[in-house]
Amino acid sequence: MTEKFYLTTPVYYVNDIPHIGHAYTTIAADALARYKRSKGYDVRFLTGTDEHGQKVWKAAQAQDKSPQEFVDGIVDRFKTAWDKLNISYDDFIRTTEKRHQATVQKIFGRLLEQGDIYKGDYEGWYCVPCETYWAESELVEDMEGRKLCPDCGRPSELLKEETYYFRQSKYQEKLLQYIDAHPDFIAPAPRRNEIIQFIKQGLKDLSVTRTAFPWGIIVPADPKHVVYVWFDALINYVSALGYASSDEEMFKKYWPADVHLMGKEIVRFHAITWPCILLALGVPLPKKVFGHGWWTVEGQKMSKTKGNVVDPLALSSEFGVDAVRYFILREVPFGVDGDFSMKLFIERFNADLANDLGNLLSRTLTMVEKYFKSQIPNPKSQTNTNDQITKEIQKLIDETPETVDKAMNELAFSEALGTIWQLITKANVYIEKQAPWSLAKKGENEQLALVLSTLIKAIKLVADQIKPFMPETSSRINAQLNLGGEKIAKGEPLFPRIQK
Ligand code: MSP
Repeated sequence: MTEKFYLTTPVYYVNDIPHIGHAYTTIAADALARYKRSKGYDVRFLTGTDEHGQKVWKAAQAQDKSPQEFVDGIVDRFKTAWDKLNISYDDFIRTTEKRHQATVQKIFGRLLEQGDIYKGDYEGWYCVPCETYWAESELVEDMEGRKLCPDCGRPSELLKEETYYFRQSKYQEKLLQYIDAHPDFIAPAPRRNEIIQFIKQGLKDLSVTRTAFPWGIIVPADPKHVVYVWFDALINYVSALGYASSDEEMFKKYWPADVHLMGKEIVRFHAITWPCILLALGVPLPKKVFGHGWWTVEGQKMSKTKGNVVDPLALSSEFGVDAVRYFILREVPFGVDGDFSMKLFIERFNADLANDLGNLLSRTLTMVEKYFKSQIPNPKSQTNTNDQITKEIQKLIDETPETVDKAMNELAFSEALGTIWQLITKANVYIEKQAPWSLAKKGENEQLALVLSTLIKAIKLVADQIKPFMPETSSRINAQLNLGGEKIAKGEPLFPRIQK
């Protein structure tokens, strides 16, 4: 039986347009999904949008639209972005869809019934104009002792609001035991340690409904309440599989998730609240929650007000989708923060893509054209006992898939690409050392055939190995190699150097 692999991205808020941060999580997930498919797994790759909550409601009001109209208008931007970036998702869930709402309501009802959700009061400092609760520590006290809203500076009031709580505290020990028994559950290690520390300080019950605004999933038993966005959003990972619906086939097949991918700032929800909900439901926990690092832009936090938001689509139209996919997965180890700059992007493009990969292909094909009339040579023997350098590169060709596999299983995308680039570098050095042009001059045709066929093997392997990361480039290389045909089909340079 084929093994399944279920992976997810967060559902993205629709009050923003897709930027390089969203693209990062999604491209990483896509590379992993494609890799696992290539290994024969039955992959289910889920992404989607998070469409409820106060912010969306306000943004809709500001544009004089109904919230549904507003979110309908934005969701396509995500779908278009993912199509342009070649994201091969299997399902796209919107939290406003019926299938999702129904599952959230079922789960809420079940937990209410079993006493894991209970009614209480929420007390806190509330800024009425901003409609936001603030922690006391966040407020600014003025000369008269009034507590001012840190956003608008107006006095806030101590308010009491009816709310339903999720009894998260009850699952604290169970969760700690689970984390302890499953060292790979939260990754990378710094995230795991943060979460353990946080839980050990004591889990409080979580307020999971709001009454201050109407844009959310209604609590059927008490319709003035809507479900809190995070409680709503987390459930997408099972509602998309039909959990608690009349058809749980997909859920049975794909759950538990093999990996939930996300940025580090939302690991807490995924590694605490989400598993507590699942523990309460008696559903198995996901195998892994992975929190990647954050991108800054030239040392600065990305923000609309600063105007430094990097648009992955603009970048792709200018330099190609694969250059963007390559850069963000190669530049920093997955899990660590990174800094984006055009200078670095162009440097990597020119060095790794134009020079290393692009030249390897074009030099090799030029030589096949010149010395073998465009037909890939087939040497009589695949080895030459006196030729240590060929043996070395053949060994590297043989070992590369396994090294890449190990890295991919650890979600070490940068390392996997680094391994592939080691082979590319080695192949370029191989050309220099073998100097096929002098072999041709000396008439050493058998050795020349061996060298070029070895280079073609290396390139073929590179095309296969980069496929999950750079699907278009992989096809373009294969088209030029034209292995099924009689002759190679040398084409345009893969990545013309950027002159800047
Ligand atoms: N809606 C919630 C997630 C709910 S999941 C049940 C949310 N959405 S979000 O639109 O803010 O997108 C979050 C994703 O984008 C995270 O994976 C986050 O880390 C990523 N990024 C947003 N900005 C980022 C950077 N500057 N750098 C890297 N990734 C960042 O949170």
